Amino acid sequence: MWGVVTSTGLALSTLATLRTRLSDAFLGSSWATQQGEPAGQLQSLAGLASAGVGVLQSFSSIIAAGLNLAALVAVSVVVDPFATIVVVAAVGVLGSVLGPLRSRIRAHAKITVDAGIQYNTALSELSSLGLEMQTYGVRPAFAHRLAHFSGHETFVRRRANVLQGMVTPVYTTLAYSALLVGLGAAALVGVGELSTLGAVMLVMMRSLSYGQQLQSASVGLVSSIPSIERLDEVLIRYDANAATNGHVVVSSVGQVSAKALAFAYLDDQPVLKELTFLIKTGEVVGVVGPSGAGKSTLVQLLLGLREPTSGAIEIDGINLRDVDRASWNSRVAFVAQDATLFTGTVADNIRFFRSTVSDSDLRDAATQANLLNEIEHLPDGFDTFLGERGTRLSGGQRQRLSIARALAGRPEFLILDEPTSALDSHSEALIRDTIASLRSKVTVVIIAHRMSTIDMCDRIIVIEQGQMTAFETPEVLRSTSGFYRLALERSGMT
Ligand SMILES: Nc1ncnc2c1ncn2[C@@H]1O[C@H](COP(=O)(O)OP(=O)(O)OP(=O)(O)O)[C@@H](O)[C@H]1O
Ligand SMILES: [Mg+2]
Repeated sequence: MWGVVTSTGLALSTLATLRTRLSDAFLGSSWATQQGEPAGQLQSLAGLASAGVGVLQSFSSIIAAGLNLAALVAVSVVVDPFATIVVVAAVGVLGSVLGPLRSRIRAHAKITVDAGIQYNTALSELSSLGLEMQTYGVRPAFAHRLAHFSGHETFVRRRANVLQGMVTPVYTTLAYSALLVGLGAAALVGVGELSTLGAVMLVMMRSLSYGQQLQSASVGLVSSIPSIERLDEVLIRYDANAATNGHVVVSSVGQVSAKALAFAYLDDQPVLKELTFLIKTGEVVGVVGPSGAGKSTLVQLLLGLREPTSGAIEIDGINLRDVDRASWNSRVAFVAQDATLFTGTVADNIRFFRSTVSDSDLRDAATQANLLNEIEHLPDGFDTFLGERGTRLSGGQRQRLSIARALAGRPEFLILDEPTSALDSHSEALIRDTIASLRSKVTVVIIAHRMSTIDMCDRIIVIEQGQMTAFETPEVLRSTSGFYRLALERSGMT
């Protein structure tokens, strides 16, 4: 009874520890690592943690069976030392005969783990592509794709399970054969007393059955080990790619400059090439350029989420790499290209886990983001519950909520990646006014395709094919930049 309570407790606390370890490692890893993970990876890994608990359960079964076997061996030493040697040797031989089977089981368990991860990825992509799948009427194709991954997973799992199931019958057959051979030998030699023979047989049979438990548990162990190994591999990778942290605590964000800044996702394909610029404190800087030019990449570098391949970003002359993360995070804000919300209230979503954001900060931010009116019309105002991924709000409302989230922390450096793409021209104009009101108080970098948003900037960086082709005021760009003039013409602004 003590054993049951202890092993259950141990198994569950191990599960909890593994889960914490997993989330801590993931949260501690760099943005580049997190961003590169396939969909559903974390769910798969959490599943592996549960499977990994099997290691512990098998291990306790091995200890229990081993102890019982030891007790029997002790008894049999008293009854007949010679028989003891025979029994111990038989259990040992049987164990080693099954060795190759165990290693095949382990190899197949590893393949099953990988197949399970593939299936999970396909499953989580399915849940995020529901709208498109229904629209394009491609449900059968999705069903086919899922069936393919599921079929592969069940195929490899069947192989692993069949092999695992083989262990008991193979062991039993071998054990009874050994027993018969032993008895035959005893009969040939001519054993004296029937009572001794009976005792030896009893001890042998019980020993072999504990030996069988030992086998099943060790098969359980080898088939759970690949789960833990896989989990461990990923944890080591997360740890090795931990987000870096500098030691220089910044007390304000002043000038932001790039010095020969270069970046490549893949070694031989530079995305940003030798960018050098200086953004003054409180300046509103626009970033324009064709799709794929490297604008969002520049933003990730400015936020300190990715390390430059060469060159540097400097904050008042301090390399961003050396800046203390906490002091930096409390001073910057970011509005992403696609606003993501989580299950919680409107207030939760604007506050975004920052305890320093007060209720009045929330109201101010919602006002600045031109969202207060709509929040007040929701059934519970700021306490209205938003479903998963913020369903219940429109695309434009989500985008303005994302802007309110950025403003609620009263940032000194605000970066916006196409913050007005989902907004009508009226809302866009209001957001433009909000940004204009931040001028000279907050340093703003704003990527926008809408030339009306861009034209209000103090200066504009033009990026074409990873190169900065201009950094000028709108007036100058109108006469010097071909890209800028063309963009203005296309949006009917000239
Ligand atoms: N995670 C990534 N891994 C590899 N390449 C990437 C990654 N993200 C972006 N790229 C590549 O880097 C280049 C620049 O991408 P980026 O997202 O910075 O462009 P962008 O200027 O923001 O474009 P858009 O206006 O369409 O948003 C593109 O060629 C893109 O394919
Ligand atoms: Mg982009």
